[in-house]
Amino acid sequence: MEKRDKTLIEFKNVGKIYHTGDIVYEALHDVNLSIDEGEMVVVLGPSGAGKSTLLNMLGGLDSATSGTIMFGEKEVTALNDRELGVFRATDVGIIFQFYNLIPTLTAIENVALMSELGIDIMDPGEALKLVGLEDRKNNFPSQLSGGQQQRVSIARAIAKRPRLLLCDEPTGALDTVTGKEILKLLQKQSTEGGRTVVMVTHNSLFADIADKVIYVKNGTVTEITINESPKDADEIDW
Ligand SMILES: Nc1ncnc2c1ncn2[C@@H]1O[C@H](COP(=O)(O)OP(=O)(O)OP(=O)(O)O)[C@@H](O)[C@H]1O
Ligand SMILES: [Mg+2]
Repeated sequence: MEKRDKTLIEFKNVGKIYHTGDIVYEALHDVNLSIDEGEMVVVLGPSGAGKSTLLNMLGGLDSATSGTIMFGEKEVTALNDRELGVFRATDVGIIFQFYNLIPTLTAIENVALMSELGIDIMDPGEALKLVGLEDRKNNFPSQLSGGQQQRVSIARAIAKRPRLLLCDEPTGALDTVTGKEILKLLQKQSTEGGRTVVMVTHNSLFADIADKVIYVKNGTVTEITINESPKDADEIDW
């Protein structure tokens, strides 16, 4: 699919307040941003800045306290719980730092699980092939390296062909060489798959591979930059 200059996501004055007992914490304040279809976006910022909170809003995992979030024609902030569930199940794939695979299921069973939940997915073997793991499909997570486990989680996330792929520190638990392989796979989802990829990271070097970089600090978006010529994941070292 070709990259189109079409807006997929738009945040208007989005805020998020957490209440823990008597404590009120403003995790996001007046966030405005837009993300295009097929764009590779990197979200950068220090610990506690609100990156994961922002990611959770993007994927409908948590609701905004104020403001409007649009996803295509859909107003995410107006959806009820059931509609939000459908949105997450069909449009959003998520990859976490620690893979979150089910230890008692093999690689292929971990991917196939999505269809057990009634979600329409591609052939699980095909999904594993896309991440170069077809020969390890019958291994349990404990029999796979960290990088391979992350590949399984990518296969699981892309099996349902989501329009939006969210990644929270996807290379955080991996060494540089393995991390780079994962970055390459994720970048390919955008450049070749036409999928919108949003990746949260502490690593400012990852900014170079993004089409757009969103900087978050103290719950606010401090800067948004556009890379006219993003680097290939192969070209960065950390
Ligand atoms: N469910 C919650 N209840 C209360 N406070 C929360 C909740 N989730 C996040 N916070 C607070 O909101 C702030 C932002 O958290 P968030 O997890 O988004 O940061 P982050 O940028 O992802 O940090 P890190 O890089 O360490 O993962 C933090 O102060 C955190 O304690
Ligand atoms: Mg976080």
